[in-house]
Amino acid sequence: MRIAVLNGPNLNLLGMREPELYGSERLEDLERAVRHRATELGAEIRWSQTNHEGEFVDLVQGLPGTVDGALVNAAAFTHTSLAVRDAFLAVSVPFVEVHLTNIFAREEERRRSLLADLAVGIVAGFGAQSYLLGLDALVGFLTRRAS
Ligand code: DQA
Repeated sequence: MRIAVLNGPNLNLLGMREPELYGSERLEDLERAVRHRATELGAEIRWSQTNHEGEFVDLVQGLPGTVDGALVNAAAFTHTSLAVRDAFLAVSVPFVEVHLTNIFAREEERRRSLLADLAVGIVAGFGAQSYLLGLDALVGFLTRRAS
């Protein structure tokens, strides 16, 4: 099973960026933990991060036929990008939306996700653990769907 992990803007700064909110782990640490869990689950990870909206759209457009599902932290694009929403609508690849923080407990403009209703489900608020929980849930979903 192949899973893409798509990380949006500023997630490359994890560890340095607002550590009181996002923790002290770097994106590489997160990637290592996700790859480790994926190996246990028998899944293969395609990891990417971009700060650019068009590139994020390209990554979404590239999902069909290359992966079975995706774990998506679109970061600020979650709340702002109709282009990213349209890309997910176009590809119909199952994805789980993940956030390090609980976006529903934050500022008003972060409480709305333009992707949530398209996702299989959402995991938010557990720091790095959100990615691992999301991965478990996505692999479970894809496995059940295949049988
Ligand atoms: C985030 C939450 C977003 O509101 C924010 O713009 C991010 C990170 C999270 O993982 O908690 O960059 O997606």
